[in-house]
Amino acid sequence: MTRVYNFSAGPAVLPLSVLDRARDEMTDYQGSGMSVMEMSHRSSVYSAIIAEAEALLRQLLTIPDNYRVLLLQGGASLQFSMVPMNLITAPGQQADYIITGVWAQKAAAEARKHATVRVAASSEVVRFCRIPRQQELDLSPAAVYVHMTSNNTVVGTEYDYLPDTGPVPLVADMSSNILSRPIDVSRYGLIYAGAQKNLGPSGVTLVIVRDDLLGRVGQLPIMLDYQVQAEHGSMLNTPPTYAIYILKLVLEWVRDQGGVAVMEQRNIRKAARLYQAIDSSAFYRCPTEVASRSRMNVPFTLTDETLTPRFLAEAGQAGLVTLEGHRLVGGLRASIYNAMPEEGVAALIHFMHDFARRYG
Ligand SMILES: Cc1ncc(COP(=O)(O)O)c(C=O)c1O
Repeated sequence: MTRVYNFSAGPAVLPLSVLDRARDEMTDYQGSGMSVMEMSHRSSVYSAIIAEAEALLRQLLTIPDNYRVLLLQGGASLQFSMVPMNLITAPGQQADYIITGVWAQKAAAEARKHATVRVAASSEVVRFCRIPRQQELDLSPAAVYVHMTSNNTVVGTEYDYLPDTGPVPLVADMSSNILSRPIDVSRYGLIYAGAQKNLGPSGVTLVIVRDDLLGRVGQLPIMLDYQVQAEHGSMLNTPPTYAIYILKLVLEWVRDQGGVAVMEQRNIRKAARLYQAIDSSAFYRCPTEVASRSRMNVPFTLTDETLTPRFLAEAGQAGLVTLEGHRLVGGLRASIYNAMPEEGVAALIHFMHDFARRYG
């Protein structure tokens, strides 16, 4: 068997033990005689899987009882619309958006269809290479909520502080750093995340929403109504059953590794080593401000950018794949989510040193 080190930003690497277990259970899930894929979502066997997934999320993220956990479809992108549709109750109400990258821009663009969006801060003029600090946030007490993107997958920046929004609920897109570090859920009104980076495969989206934010708007399409989804335990219609099953296996893996605090320690080590390798070489450059650097997505460029195709080709031959930067920014990017082992980062650093020695 040949496994590569896959630095994809998403869908991304999954723990090998999760894939092995899914393979072992593929055709006969725990004596049921069928695959999870073939099972009714109303069956008792499947009900146990989805209940366990929610219980693990509650345990790993210490989710308080006054928050609902929803497993929805439509990706994080649908949440760009569902958040304002569910929270804005009257035309003209305001929502504050902190614009730290293209995903935040897309979220704000959807919100403009339902709310008056105020830009509380933007780092666009510096090509999103930094996260605005608390004192730069122009927050309005009249806002219905404040939206942030906790980790910017494309440019590789991440908040190292939690914005203080006073009594205004904070809504966070955590698609690319959920479960990578402990969080205090009670500081947020709503958290959402597409699964395909740190949680599992694509097709399922996690929403954690405080009770008082449910049921504010009466006339929503039922599939887009958090209240209705919560009442039906995310089973209003057929959920993405297999994706939720893999999510459950990933959560068990995180638990067995020691939980989110252990993930954080590993992520700190992996990111520190990779940034150190970049910063200590005149051959590589990282465009992001040091205090704003992401532990999950590490962007870098070669000082001589004409060598980038060669770097990618030779890295691929060495089993280090999907290192190209996002199409909007170019360059290189190593996504090092929870499931990227420390050996994978070490192998990348080794290759980078070797490449620099040969072409520098
Ligand atoms: C931070 C962030 N938000 C939202 C999205 C969009 O997610 P989805 O493809 O699940 O809609 C992505 C995708 O990479 C992302 O990185």
